[in-house]
Amino acid sequence: MSTAADSNQVSAATWWRQAAVYQIYPRSFSDSNGDGLGDIKGITAKVPYLKSLGIDAVWLSPFYPSALADGGYDVDDYRNVDPKLGTLEDFDEMASALHAAGIKLIADIVPNHSSDRHEWFREALASPKGSAARDRYIFRDGKGPNGEFPPSDWDSVFGGPAWERITEPDGTPGQWYMHIFAKEQPDLNWANREVRDDFLKTLRFWSDRGVDGFRVDVAHALTKDLTEPMLSKVELTLEGAGFDGFEDGSHPFWDRDEVHEIYAEWREVFNEYDPPRTAVAEAWVHASRRARYASSEGLGQAFNFDLLQADFDASQFRRIIAENLTLAEESGASSTWVLSNHDVVRHATRYGLPNGLGRHCLQWFREGGTAKDVNTELGLRRARAASLLMLALPGSAYLYQGEELGLQEVVDLPAASRQDPWFVRSNGTDVGRDGCRVPLPWTSEGSSFGFGAGASHLPQPEWFSAYAAATQEEQTGSTLALYRKALRLRRNLHTEEQLKWVDGAGAAVLHFVRPNGWHSVTNFGTEPVGLPAGTVILSSSALVEGKLPADTTAWII
Ligand code: NOJ
Repeated sequence: MSTAADSNQVSAATWWRQAAVYQIYPRSFSDSNGDGLGDIKGITAKVPYLKSLGIDAVWLSPFYPSALADGGYDVDDYRNVDPKLGTLEDFDEMASALHAAGIKLIADIVPNHSSDRHEWFREALASPKGSAARDRYIFRDGKGPNGEFPPSDWDSVFGGPAWERITEPDGTPGQWYMHIFAKEQPDLNWANREVRDDFLKTLRFWSDRGVDGFRVDVAHALTKDLTEPMLSKVELTLEGAGFDGFEDGSHPFWDRDEVHEIYAEWREVFNEYDPPRTAVAEAWVHASRRARYASSEGLGQAFNFDLLQADFDASQFRRIIAENLTLAEESGASSTWVLSNHDVVRHATRYGLPNGLGRHCLQWFREGGTAKDVNTELGLRRARAASLLMLALPGSAYLYQGEELGLQEVVDLPAASRQDPWFVRSNGTDVGRDGCRVPLPWTSEGSSFGFGAGASHLPQPEWFSAYAAATQEEQTGSTLALYRKALRLRRNLHTEEQLKWVDGAGAAVLHFVRPNGWHSVTNFGTEPVGLPAGTVILSSSALVEGKLPADTTAWII
């Protein structure tokens, strides 16, 4: 366990344990050439902004060549930069600029599936059944007299079947390949040694280029058991499997025990470097199974998405925090905290919706909820309180671009401009994730609010103007100012990864103290409450006659 008293003493090898990591969704961050898509040079230009924000690391969502069937999570070539976003030289320049600013770089790696444009997949389509090229993916014969039915009735995550039929090189209807996500994302066969070796090469490729760590996409899906008979989707549902599999590891493709053999090999590669490269698993698994991904013999850290699915509610927050700190102790990793990312409705909007929706708030929009029904003022106030609470917790905090501006979800994007395969594959019944991926407003006016010199690839609403970074630079109480101050204080306040609950202020108040005497108090209730003795160094909203008002967090030392 890290016992550093401040960030300067955090050892090189454990920098990640209490890091504030800022997620950049490259296509929507900053566009340097006016083509409407954010790019690598755009990120480099914003390094001074990132430095002044006070984060420790940047996590870049995929920047690889891609047809963008799933926002870049459909990778054509794992060891290159999308020409739409720049070149490898641009990447090197960005990495150097970040490092010069004292910011680490985490790359997103997508091992479960490639894109259907990857050279391996094209080779598989051009090669016969049973060939080595087909064995890099998951091809099966179909059922029925002519193989016209998929090998199983499983649905893909984005809707529609998880199998797609191909046309064989001789023009006849042929085998089927598995894709847990979109059909443009064929699943790789991790039982194949060549696939494993190629990823080790990719990890070294980026590590040699100065990448400090990796975020591992759907880390729990890589190994599969497709022996016949495959369970039907009804059987899988009856047995209680969700996106997070079974607690005993027996689900055919989520969270199987063998997946950890892969990460043990990855760990050997990470440890070839000094400091060792880090990794964080995106693994939607039962909390009891998260520790295995976070083990120091595996990826080292795993996302905990519990806060991101919770309401703004004291008892939910307390239970989640306590549970995850216990789990972190068990795995030896530090905990991770996330309130927003590129897959969910921004927390400033979630907290302005009726309670009880959690991660399923998209459903609410599907059922007729509109932008007008979101209480954006309340949502923002609560988001600021929740963010301050999160930044006081032991462990690392993952922030999503735009949350430092208090940005709201764009819930009413026109259907014609939506890009998410979730929207497309569900024929629009699922609104998808584009609303949190709208390019950032940097200035209150001008083309695409300073994102670039042209229109942005997803349209920005007029109200984005009020959230512009440049405007918030000038405002003392802005959300940007709050994040900057919180991140700066957090560095100075680094301490042992522990907290002690302080009870007594009622069920609607969460009060904890870190070992160096740093108190964080959040009022989830409706009435102002008193504060512990000491100096208030920061509060998410103004105090009222010395008391902590509703929906507010204060830090006291
Ligand atoms: C998880 C990523 O966060 C999401 O954006 C993506 O669609 C899926 N994995 C598939 O790669």
